[in-house]
Amino acid sequence: MSVVSLNVPAGDVDRVLRAEVAAPRVVFVLGSGLSGLANEVTDSVVIPYAELEGFPQVGAVAGHAGQLTVGRLAEVPVILFAGRAHQYQGVSALDASYPARLAVALGCETLIVTNAAGGVADGLRTGDIVLITDHMNLMGTNPLIGWSGPEGGTPFVPMRDAYDPELREIAHAVASNLDLTLKEGVYAGLLGPSYETPAEVRMLRSLGADVVGMSTVPEVIAARALGLRVLGLSLVTNVAAGEDLSHAEVLEAGKKAESQLTALVLGILRRL
Ligand code: HPA
Repeated sequence: MSVVSLNVPAGDVDRVLRAEVAAPRVVFVLGSGLSGLANEVTDSVVIPYAELEGFPQVGAVAGHAGQLTVGRLAEVPVILFAGRAHQYQGVSALDASYPARLAVALGCETLIVTNAAGGVADGLRTGDIVLITDHMNLMGTNPLIGWSGPEGGTPFVPMRDAYDPELREIAHAVASNLDLTLKEGVYAGLLGPSYETPAEVRMLRSLGADVVGMSTVPEVIAARALGLRVLGLSLVTNVAAGEDLSHAEVLEAGKKAESQLTALVLGILRRL
């Protein structure tokens, strides 16, 4: 049940409904270099972010397509955001949570997020897929700031089991069927856009983080406030604070692991 107001322009909801695909059940938000899943969508209608009034209009980041695809994946009606608006682009946490808010306005039940992340835990390697079990909001802000509950007041939203235990079980079962190694870990969300210093990576490790990135946290907090079930997958594109870390390296690692991620996600959808 929704505890906060949605604040989604009615025109955006109409724009998606005009695509005339069945009511979406699942919303995807895809991370840097991980937009390939959009190519698997059937009966697809593409809506550029520029046509969505509520989507923060910031310049594209390399590796982010910048469009919403409406259609079906594994027969399930979905909407799929290929590319995010990040807070490091000057967007508020509330605006960064727009995909979750639009999804709820359209009647979705489940949010599946993917992201590119740096590996913090010992043993994580480039190309590893990590199922997010929990997160740390180290972004210094929160998408619920300034929202009010149905009767006014502050939305104190519980964040226990934010990453749905049942969906996590399904993900593990699908991965095991596909003979795919699925690790688990805690995602630390930092503001960016600079990557972490070695000292920050040591700090994150001692705090209990396994992967680090610059996204995901705002949309997941908003999604939980609005009652969506959440599944999160990180692709380790580099070892955090590794040598010669570049955005190009992050995108390249994303491309390599994309087919595995696609198979995993399609398998999960078939079991929902
Ligand atoms: N740090 C933060 N964000 C990231 C990283 C990283 O090492 N790799 C991909 N996104």
